[in-house]
Amino acid sequence: MVDMETRAQHETPIDMKHAAKNRKLIVANWKMNPQTRKEAGQLSRAVQQGIRGAKNVEVVLCPPLPYLSIVNCQLSVVGKGAQNCFYQQNGAYTGEVSPAMLKDIGCGYVIIGHSERKKYAGETNEIINKKLKAALRAGLKVILCIGEESRDSFDSRGRWTHELDPKVKEQLVEAVKGVKKSQIGNIAVAYEPVWAIGTGNPATPDDVLSAKIFIRKIMSELYSRKDADKVLVLYGGSTNRKNTVDFIKDGQMDGLLVGGASLDPEEFITMIKEVSEVS
Ligand code: PGA
Repeated sequence: MVDMETRAQHETPIDMKHAAKNRKLIVANWKMNPQTRKEAGQLSRAVQQGIRGAKNVEVVLCPPLPYLSIVNCQLSVVGKGAQNCFYQQNGAYTGEVSPAMLKDIGCGYVIIGHSERKKYAGETNEIINKKLKAALRAGLKVILCIGEESRDSFDSRGRWTHELDPKVKEQLVEAVKGVKKSQIGNIAVAYEPVWAIGTGNPATPDDVLSAKIFIRKIMSELYSRKDADKVLVLYGGSTNRKNTVDFIKDGQMDGLLVGGASLDPEEFITMIKEVSEVS
């Protein structure tokens, strides 16, 4: 017999009509935090309770793997995602976790290509592409992270000039190589400039709007305008309750990928409520 918790996990309310207008996607990337299962449970419960009734927003918690089971979606207001996966579905790959396994335990999403994985686990564009395709094949939605390393991509007036950084384009083009048109709507691209992550130094709404236009333009060239419009564009990098509304309204973001601030339930709940109100 399937117990209630298991059933709830499998019935994760991942009704992510990506194209749905005004519906924002807020993803919590807990990274390698918190340090105990107890704290993870408290954080997850606090968020799930705190955001009850929030409309027009889809919230996805991405805890470390050992804590995935504590986000049981019983309160049915959040979905859950993993921070990484491998590109094979099973087999002799010691230490790896497959997208199929994530799907099986109720994950709806997986973050792929985060800059910290590039930095500490040596992930390349080629590996990211393989992971992305494997995750989509397993039926997961993907949060694909892209972003430049330094502020060198800014012009003399301090404006983000994506054309100066061919690497951002390269990251996106390489990541979606071989991805079918029909799968594009299952990808959300998170623009995460590396210099803004965890630094308290976020990009501006203007920067992220330029990035969104740039991302949509590349996707239009690779697929079609209609397909490109299905791709949500999120922003990540030092987001908090003070800048949330600016990114959503002025930056026209379809959502946020939140690191540090997602570990503070009060801060994170406030961010979600603000997004809900302006959407
Ligand atoms: P931050 O992290 O919000 O702590 O800057 C964002 C991320 O790395 O996804």
